[in-house]
This record gives sequence, C-alpha cells and structure tokens, in this order.
Amino acid sequence: MKAVLMKGYGGVDQLEYGDVPTPEPKAGEVLVRVIATSVNPVDYKIRSGAMKERMHLDFPVVPGRDVAGEVTAVGAGVTKFRPGDRVMGLVNHSYAEYLTASADVLTRIPERLDPRDAGVIPLVALTGAQLIENGVKPVSGEVVLVTGALGSVGRTAVYVATQHGAKVIGGVRSSQKAEAESLGADSVVALDDDKDLAGLPELDAIADTVNGDTLAKLIPKLKQSGRLATVLGKPDVAEKAGIDVRPVWSQPDPERLYRLAEDFRDGKLKIPIAKRMHLSDAREAQQTAEKGVNGKIALLP
Ligand SMILES: NC(=O)c1ccc[n+]([C@@H]2O[C@H](COP(=O)([O-])OP(=O)(O)OC[C@H]3O[C@@H](n4cnc5c(N)ncnc54)[C@H](OP(=O)(O)O)[C@@H]3O)[C@@H](O)[C@H]2O)c1
Repeated sequence: MKAVLMKGYGGVDQLEYGDVPTPEPKAGEVLVRVIATSVNPVDYKIRSGAMKERMHLDFPVVPGRDVAGEVTAVGAGVTKFRPGDRVMGLVNHSYAEYLTASADVLTRIPERLDPRDAGVIPLVALTGAQLIENGVKPVSGEVVLVTGALGSVGRTAVYVATQHGAKVIGGVRSSQKAEAESLGADSVVALDDDKDLAGLPELDAIADTVNGDTLAKLIPKLKQSGRLATVLGKPDVAEKAGIDVRPVWSQPDPERLYRLAEDFRDGKLKIPIAKRMHLSDAREAQQTAEKGVNGKIALLP
C-alpha cells in the first residue's frame, strides 16, 4: 500500500510517500481502508522533534491521528464491525491507504456524513469536547473563556461549553473578531487588545488552546477559585498560587465522537475544511497547515 513515512525529526523533507506492507489486524483490531485523514498541529510538532521528550518514536513511522474509512477485514474476536462498515476514530498511523486499529476506538460514521469530511474531525472534536467536559466541567451560567476560539479545537470547545449552559467568551485575534461573531459564543474578545481585555468580567474558567503570553495576560482575570483547563500541558505561568490547572490530553471516545460527528454533519458544530489534498502531497499539506490556514486540511489517499 501507499503511505507517508516520517524518516526522522526535521522539516517536511523527512516525509516520504512510498510503498509499505499493508498491516494485518490482530485480535480485537480491524483493518480500515482510509478514505480521509487530516493534518493536525501535533503532526508537525512531532515531526519537528518538539514532542521528543513526551513520545518515543522508532523511525520510520507513519504519522496521522484521524481516520474515516471502510472496514475491509476484522481480527479475531471482533463483533462490533464487519467488512463494509464505514467507521471513524482517533487512531495512529493514518497517513496511509490502510491502517489497523482496535475496534474499541472506532465508531460508525453517521448516516449522511461524507467520510471525506468525517476524516477531519476526530482529534479536534474530541479534544475540544474533553477540554470542556473533562477539564473545565462547567456548571450552567459559569463564565468560560475559550482561547483560540476560531481554531478547530477552540470551535468545538465553544460549542460544547455552550451546550453545557456556560456563558462563553470566544478569545481570538483582533483581526479575527468579525469572523468570530458567527461562532455562537455569548461574546467575543480580542486577546491582543488590552482595552478589550480590561473589559473582561471575572472568569470562572479558561479553556486554553494557545498558551504563552496570551494566557499569562488572562490568568489575573480568573476568579480565585477559577479553573484553567489546557490542551498544551501545564503552563509556567500557572505556578502562581491558587490556580487549579487541568491539563487535558485527548483520548479516544467513540460514543462521544459519534454525537459530535452528528452535530458536525447537521451544521451545529462548524469546523471548516480549508483544503482537500492528495496524501502524496503530505509535505505541502503540513507546510501549509504550519504557516496557518483557516480550517482543516483533509488528506485523501
Ligand atoms: N492536548 C491534546 O491532546 C491536543 C489535541 C489536539 C490539539 N492540541 C493542541 O491544541 C492547539 C490547537 O489545535 P487546533 O487543531 O485547534 O489548531 P488550529 O486549528 O490551528 O487553531 C489554533 C487557533 O488558535 C489561534 N491562535 C494562536 N495563537 C493565538 C493567540 N496568541 N491569540 C489568539 N488566537 C491565537 C489561531 O489563529 P491564527 O491562525 O491566526 O494563528 C487559530 O485560530 C495546538 O497547539 C494543538 O497542538 C492538543
């Protein structure tokens, strides 16, 4: 089969499109023909070596976390899926024509959701939902600021926090304020505008997807009892006494993903797809994503 292999740490020249053996499903696993995967920031963070300390890799390795596709074979003991089923999930090694994954991490693609679209959401949708539901855990009426609200994780976090009855403030760049009005947040704040920041109410929680100086400026706005949930690990600024920091690392959750996928299909959860590219263009796709693109890049084998 064709796949993208990452040969080592470095630039996009470490990515090579070529032939590798098709994997075989072990007990409890299924073989999936990949219809779509997508580029995530973690893909190029891993490639650059920025995640070396957290994650050991044996090169060469096939990158990629998202999949939507079709089951073509099942391993011993799998009863949840049959060949022909359309599935999606948060997996590994998805920059490929085929992958194997535990049946436990996959869910069906909801009816009427195109698999080519479904393949962009597993990681970002689960992360945004888990940032709110496992990190912030909002009570109805609480004020929750989501940073990077126009990003794919941020959009999901805004959507899910709103579903839980929070008063959501979408934190974006000044240049993104007009676009952010369509997010469905109760209000929008420009995180790079000190006047805007001065007008913020006391926050019950921050759901952070950007970190750095931006987050440092927001921490004084948190209530004494406030929570900081983050998808970027415990930030240095959180050493400040009294802050309840809740790092969130995404986990497969097929049932939750199925419901998010239905909302995505129905246009309630909006995650724009900026580009669709062939898997063989993975170098260009990562380069484009790294420079910043407004939405997801789908990769289609
Ligand atoms: N913990 C986990 O398990 C986990 C899982 C998935 C993702 N993540 C991390 O979560 C982050 C977001 O991922 P994503 O897929 O949502 O990326 P994304 O779609 O690129 O979104 C990032 C958003 O944040 C905005 N942004 C960046 N810096 C900002 C700042 N200082 N002020 C205001 N807005 C800012 C970006 O705007 P511009 O485009 O203008 O820069 C963009 O809208 C990434 O760092 C990713 O690695 C963590």
